Order: sequence, then structure tokens, then C-alpha cells
Amino acid sequence: MDRRELLRLLSLSTLAGTVACKGPSASARPAAFSPETTSGAGFVPDVELLLTAAPDEVAVLPGAPTRVWRFSGRLLKGPADTLQTIPGSYLGPVIRLRRGQKVRVRFANQLAEDSIVHWHGLDVPESADGHPRLAVGHGREYVYEFEVTNRAGTYWYHPHPHMRTGAQVYQGLAGVLLVQDDEEDRLALPSGGTELLCVIQDRQFDERNQLVFHGGVMMEMMNGFLGDRVLVNGQPQPTTEVDAAWHRVRLVNASNARIYKLAWSRDVQMAVIGGDGGLLETPLHQQALTLAPGQRADLLLDLTGLAVGTDVHLESQAFAEADAGLVGMMGMGGRGMGGMRGGNSSVPNGTPLRVMTLRTRARQGAAFRVPERLSSFDAAWAPRAGAPIRRVSLTFQRMEWLLGGRTFAMADVAPEETVAAGSTQLWEFENLANPMGMEAAHPIHMHGRQFRVLDRTGGRANTLRAGIVDGGWRDTVLVLPGETVRVQVTFTHHPGLYLYHCHILEHEDMGMMRNFRVT
Ligand code: C2O
Ligand code: CU
Ligand code: CU
Repeated sequence: MDRRELLRLLSLSTLAGTVACKGPSASARPAAFSPETTSGAGFVPDVELLLTAAPDEVAVLPGAPTRVWRFSGRLLKGPADTLQTIPGSYLGPVIRLRRGQKVRVRFANQLAEDSIVHWHGLDVPESADGHPRLAVGHGREYVYEFEVTNRAGTYWYHPHPHMRTGAQVYQGLAGVLLVQDDEEDRLALPSGGTELLCVIQDRQFDERNQLVFHGGVMMEMMNGFLGDRVLVNGQPQPTTEVDAAWHRVRLVNASNARIYKLAWSRDVQMAVIGGDGGLLETPLHQQALTLAPGQRADLLLDLTGLAVGTDVHLESQAFAEADAGLVGMMGMGGRGMGGMRGGNSSVPNGTPLRVMTLRTRARQGAAFRVPERLSSFDAAWAPRAGAPIRRVSLTFQRMEWLLGGRTFAMADVAPEETVAAGSTQLWEFENLANPMGMEAAHPIHMHGRQFRVLDRTGGRANTLRAGIVDGGWRDTVLVLPGETVRVQVTFTHHPGLYLYHCHILEHEDMGMMRNFRVT
């Protein structure tokens, strides 16, 4: 059986119809917006935004523009610097919020298919969390209302429709959401021209500069879709002119499936100061940084003293493909399917890649010292003795990735997935080996409250492990093949239906996602 025939046999005809990326719609019906939720009585927003998802075109590569789907924003009320458009990018506007603000977002869907927006990392009411059952169709509007209770940090937003999250994010629908607060302000971290926001994604283009996505082929779904080039803020390997100064670099891995092992090409000092849920307690000094889909990192980078015109590259270092998982099927004619890895990409996980370049210009920056203490943590941080423990297996069975032995169903909640608001549990994500040799590193994400990673055990030698930052509040944790990772989570105070899932978007769309109900 040759490779192509195997692919054909494995292609999921049922998925192919729903998962294959559809092009932008040609329909130009006038939009008749009717809000799906009415304003809660008494909710007076400090900030009000209109966020529209629509087909658009942007120049990514030389030559023809690329058709994308794009969020665009309009500020209806609030501070003038709330929205910041990234010039020339398909990404949505950067949304800057402050802790304590009341926010209303009117999401207008101008796509030819259903969508809904999720605020990744924010602790918001059920009605504002972007659950797929809340998706709205073309020409409709969904109104979000929530108060920003999260700490300062780098969060992001992206669509979350049923089985279409991967496709919609891939087409360009994603953006950064920054939360600021007084505690962070007091640190006077580099800002303005010395604060860089970098959204890292991989994409594949055809010869006419149009995005290529998978066609629902089984192996591409199993592995997750990998592009063959890396984009930062929608541009391939950008070079940014920077002062020879300390910089704050905020990274978001918004790729569908690619894991990066990030490092700088020169021996510049790097301090990791934050992760998914804001600042760490104290800075962390390490050479490489593993960033899995969904995760964020906040860094301080010392470029002082570099000569004018020095290039500092951000690179993803080589790692063994098997460190990100090994999709091999021992049962398939004894030959295994090792050769199938990367079958969807000429650039498999672990391929060394240049991400972007910082080039120093004449100006030298002001003196700066990395603060020794970055932030303080509330009572939920303390280890809770006697908290209930729930084991959640990550497995592969019947050609499906499972979460706790199950796949997603829209409203389905198992008894052990029912939790009391504000209660604390330890969830143990156990990445079990499978007799067919199907395994993957799964970045597991929980909606609602940020969690604390207590420990990771088991697994074999893996070069990604040293780069993993587990410190501080997290909402997405990478569980390497064979590992068990324990997290302590104090659930949100908002009752309702929330999600937890693998943030490899193809795994999520295939059903490696479950609800939990907060009562
Ligand atoms: Cu960033 Cu449920 O996702
Ligand atoms: Cu999320
Ligand atoms: Cu996964």
C-alpha cells in the first residue's frame, strides 16, 4: 500500500465536508444585524467595541494579495488607545483593557458561516465565553458583556465554532488582548517602541499566494496542520528596527499545531517574566523557551551595548519530531506510519526555523534593571491540601483523540465534569501511550480560571521539557508524550458551561474537547 493510497483510505469523508476550508463567500447580502443577547439591565460599559469578522485581502507575500478572514474593530466608547490596528496584518486589532473595566463587545459576523468569539484566558460569565453552541450566522451579531477581573497579562481572542475553530483561526481570525493593572504599571516595564507584540503562526501558500489548508485528511487531522513557513503578526520573517535597549517581548503562539522551541541567535540576556496569566513572581533565566499552541510568554530582552545594525534573530531550534509526538501505527502492515509524519507538511515539528529578526539602530535605551519581584499571587495560589483529584487521560482510540475517555458533544457533561463554583480541584492530565504508537504532545487548555501547574512526572527524555515554563498562572499546559501533569484549579465563580480541550486546533475540532459545568 503506498502512501497516497493510505492517505486516501484514511481520509474522513464525513469530516472532509465540514472541516475542509471554505473560501470566502461570494454572497454580498446586506447585513441585517439583530443582537443575539440583550444587554443585562444595569450594565454600564466603560469600553464598548464593535468587532467584525469578514473576508478581506492583505499583502503577505510579494505579488498577489492573500484572501483572508479578518477581525476589524471600532471603538464605540472608552479610552482612545483601546484598539490598535497592526498595519499590514490580517490579525485583529490589539485590544488593551484594564483590570476592573466593564466591557461590551458587539461581535458582528460577516462570514459565510457560523462563528463566535472566545476571549482566551479571561474569566468571564458563561454568556461571554464563546461556547460553540452560542455561534451566530452570517449577518448576525452577538453581544458580550463582562468585567475584566484577570490580572495584567497577554491574552488573546479567536473564534470557537463547532468543528471550525482550526479553519477560522487559520484563515486569519485571531487577535491579542492585553490586560493592564496597577501592579504591572508600578514595574515601569519597557513600553511604547520598546514593547514588541509577536503573534507566531505557521501557514502554507499556493503559487497564487492563497492559503492552503488541509482537506480533512485523517493524518493531517491526527497530527494537526503544520504550515511550511512562519509568520509573525501575519508577515513572513519580519525584520524590525529597534533601539539598542531593553525590550519587553510578548509572544503568542497562535499556530494551529506547531510547537516552537524559541531562542535568540546571539548571547543576549533574556528573562522570562510572564506566561499565560500574567507576570511570574520572580524572573526566570533560561536559554530556550518552549511555546505550544495557545500559550503566551512575556520576556525582557537586553539589547543594550549592541553595535548599530546588529541582527538578533528569534529562532525555533531543532528538536526531535518524536518530542512533539510520534504518529506511527504499528498495526498498519507492520511497516509503521513513521513515514507519514509530516505528510501534511514539508516542515515537520522540530524543524529549525527563523521566526523574526530584530535589527539595532543608533539610539541607545535608558538604563533598566530586571525587577527582582514581579508580582504577588492571591490566596488561590496556595496548594490546597485534600483537594479532590480528578484523573483526565489523554488517549487515542478508534482513530480519535479522547479527553478523559470521551469526545466532545455540544451539551454533554459527565458527573466528574460537574464542579462547584469557586471550589478547588487537582486535575491530573495523563498522556497515555497507545498500542498503535499514536501519541502527541497535547497543550491542554481550560476555560474560566487560570490554574497552577503543580508538577509533571513520567515521560521519556524530551528536549522540549527544559524550555517549558510552568510557573505563574497558566491556562494552557503542554503535556508531553508519556507525562502526567497535575494542575490545581479554583473554578470560576460564574456558573455555567465551560470548555477544556487540546489547543492543537485539529484535535479540538475532531473532538478532543469536553464541557465542564460550574454549579
Ligand atoms: Cu484558545 Cu477554547 O480556546
Ligand atoms: Cu480559551
Ligand atoms: Cu492534542
